[in-house]
Amino acid sequence: MSLLNEYFKLNNGVRIPKIGYGTWQIFDGPDAVEIFETAIKKGYRHLDTAALYDNEESVGKAIEKSDVDREDIFITSKVLSSIKTYEGTLEAFETTMEKLGFDYLDLYLIHGPTPMHDREGNYDKENIEVWRALEKLYKEGRIRAIGISNFRVHDMKNLMEHAEIKPMVNQIRFFVGNTKDDIVEYCKKHDILVEAYSPLGVGRLLDKPVLTEIGKTHNVTPAQVALRYCLQKGTLPLPKTKTPSRMDENARLEFTLTDDEMKRLDDIDDDLR
Ligand SMILES: NC(=O)c1ccc[n+]([C@@H]2O[C@H](COP(=O)([O-])OP(=O)(O)OC[C@H]3O[C@@H](n4cnc5c(N)ncnc54)[C@H](OP(=O)(O)O)[C@@H]3O)[C@@H](O)[C@H]2O)c1
Repeated sequence: MSLLNEYFKLNNGVRIPKIGYGTWQIFDGPDAVEIFETAIKKGYRHLDTAALYDNEESVGKAIEKSDVDREDIFITSKVLSSIKTYEGTLEAFETTMEKLGFDYLDLYLIHGPTPMHDREGNYDKENIEVWRALEKLYKEGRIRAIGISNFRVHDMKNLMEHAEIKPMVNQIRFFVGNTKDDIVEYCKKHDILVEAYSPLGVGRLLDKPVLTEIGKTHNVTPAQVALRYCLQKGTLPLPKTKTPSRMDENARLEFTLTDDEMKRLDDIDDDLR
């Protein structure tokens, strides 16, 4: 059985396919629809989009055109990190749903704890407002699971102190050499699934000789080593590729890295951080 048909269980019992398909930098249009349709044809059942990516419409169209039922595909989207009000979040959600063309979403995330133009700012109070909007949509059954992205331990503690419903997911930048252990540990303790974005280091990780060496012993590519590493760390990888052969490659992860290999990967220098 392919890992594309295996699941993690979120803390509310919802099942989420173990490998997601990242869609960043594939912009709305016929090419995007075709690329997403190909990913679905190849077995991906978990698509990661965001209002920011400018491709929600194409994600919706690709699912509509495919012969897979909506209920069999897990869709994640995200509210822009610049939206920090209750009403603004509810409006953003409706826009996302219009673009996708569906009446419910599987997972909705706060894209970031701070807007991009003010990364160092403090938005603790505002994040609680945004979270309240997500809780409302969740309780109404519009969203099957809710979560956060790019939240640091401080941001999570703030949310946990005030939230009625705790997040099910934190989607963070995570790859070999960049493992953010404090965040992962906090998430584990609170049963929050960590999703690994940029699991290939946006492609730049793949030149590292250690990955090639370890790959050779398993007859797999550096990309497969990098993705398997995420899974063995208990995280859910979200590789992005517009290349059909790589879609297959990134899902063929049925091998196991030894403890020694995991340790070698843990020790890799983190110059891509
Ligand atoms: N929440 C957030 O703030 C956030 C931020 C960044 C990303 N994300 C999510 O995470 C997803 C993945 O992250 P990412 O797009 O930053 O980077 P990534 O998945 O780490 O890397 C993507 C790059 O690697 C290449 N690639 C893919 N598979 C490969 C393979 N088997 N061999 C060699 N090269 C390969 C792709 O090229 P081709 O496409 O040309 O094949 C692309 O250039 C995003 O698409 C998005 O859904 C979330």
